[in-house]
Amino acid sequence: MIQYTIAIVDDEETIRDSLELVLTPAYTVHLYEDAESFLASLDSSVPDLVLMDIGLPVMSGIEALERLKADHPDVPVIMITAYEEISMVIRSMKNGAFDFILKPINPDILELTIQKAAASIALVKEVKLLQEKYLKENEPCFIGESKNIENVMDFINMVSKSPDTPIMILGETGTGKELIAKAIHARSPVFQGPFVAVNCSAFPEELLESELFGYEPGAFSGARPQGKKGFIEEADKGTLFLDEVADLSPAGQAKLLRFLESGEFYKVGGTRKLTVQTRVVSATNKDIETLVEKEKFRKDLYFRLCVVRADIPSLNQRPDDILPLAKHFLYEFSRKFDKDLKGFSSEAQALLLAHNFTGNVRELRNIVERSALVARTGLVSVADLGLRSGAAFCQGSGPGQSWDEATAGRDDCGLQDDSVEIPEAGIHLTDLLTGIERRYMALAVEKAGGNESRAAKLLNMNHHTFRYRWKKLKTQ
Ligand SMILES: Nc1ncnc2c1ncn2[C@@H]1O[C@H](COP(=O)(O)OP(=O)(O)OP(=O)(O)O)[C@@H](O)[C@H]1O
Ligand SMILES: [Mg+2]
Repeated sequence: MIQYTIAIVDDEETIRDSLELVLTPAYTVHLYEDAESFLASLDSSVPDLVLMDIGLPVMSGIEALERLKADHPDVPVIMITAYEEISMVIRSMKNGAFDFILKPINPDILELTIQKAAASIALVKEVKLLQEKYLKENEPCFIGESKNIENVMDFINMVSKSPDTPIMILGETGTGKELIAKAIHARSPVFQGPFVAVNCSAFPEELLESELFGYEPGAFSGARPQGKKGFIEEADKGTLFLDEVADLSPAGQAKLLRFLESGEFYKVGGTRKLTVQTRVVSATNKDIETLVEKEKFRKDLYFRLCVVRADIPSLNQRPDDILPLAKHFLYEFSRKFDKDLKGFSSEAQALLLAHNFTGNVRELRNIVERSALVARTGLVSVADLGLRSGAAFCQGSGPGQSWDEATAGRDDCGLQDDSVEIPEAGIHLTDLLTGIERRYMALAVEKAGGNESRAAKLLNMNHHTFRYRWKKLKTQ
């Protein structure tokens, strides 16, 4: 049997000692005489259960409870209180205390309250273990080492915990929105329930309603005689992923809104009101806010779907992910094609870093798939990558022409008016330029075999300026 650890926080020595006497050896007990020393101990270990006096000196038990709950919401806390502090008890229960016991402490009540708490700890631990196992077995590998994507994942971890808050994922095509939707499901309390993905642009308008809501037997000609469950019903007690949601027709938007407002719906041809509980995650690569402004997407539906919004940065905005992702995909395809590919040559790595990924991670994956297929040696070379130009920001190199030849002596970086576009959502020019600068510097360093003075020469830069900028950009 697992032995639970109980922290006792009370300034009265007699109470600490008597509680310790009653609780050992059944539990491992740690004693603290004030809130400060208890909170400090959390850095090294977190107890399974806390018995906390309300009337502590300096920081009160209520404040300590709040602080504990902010970082460790799952740890049950039983407040110890004198009768006259009953208003404090109410406050602490509101702040998430599990229960309270009155002084003088009755050992039978203490035992009962602790048993109740232990049952809840066991449940929390069991669910946690199950979820970890589920994540290990089911979650597709999500690669992300850049600060940008780390921030997104921290945010996702936080918002996934609520079981029913709708989340909208926005990002360019191929940034990994579907993978993130699956990550939200896997981290949510309904992780054992179904994850149902619906591509809203895949159905003609007349089919959408029956696909979403299902139909009763004989609802229309050509319908299955036994009727059909719709995606919404399939997603009961799980997650409904509405992909390409901006492509919903006006009629589809109205029907979806009606369901989201009430949680209720009718099957096509049905008269029975059905109810489901599902978390709706939606995604689009369109500029949905502009669509709302232009009244192409209903504002009320947008607000329903976008209670929480997650913006996935483009791959160009997170160059630190390019090589880890490329290596991950290379490993995947190396196994698939039964090859022994070990990595990318340093020139090939530099070229990947300098590439403008308009198709984001999907484009990178395709490039690696093709390279893995054609690579003749264990290292993927520049030629294997099959990229005509080093950087799309520097287009203009013809077939057979090296990137250096194509761009040498040009001060416009090959940028032609028709070679780039500004998306409707606009761009962050400064970030973009920083990204380009970082990639060219990385490329130059690679090309110069790590010699920064030579790299500076390649870019026609003063080597002090180069060193200063390079150091800064590497840590940004
Ligand atoms: N961080 C990542 N780690 C591993 N693979 C990734 C990552 N991001 C994306 N991918 C892979 O890239 C491909 C595209 O991702 P996904 O389909 O999730 O993109 P999307 O944003 O939904 O694109 P679209 O808007 O075109 O539907 C998939 O094969 C996915 O597995
Ligand atoms: Mg998608």
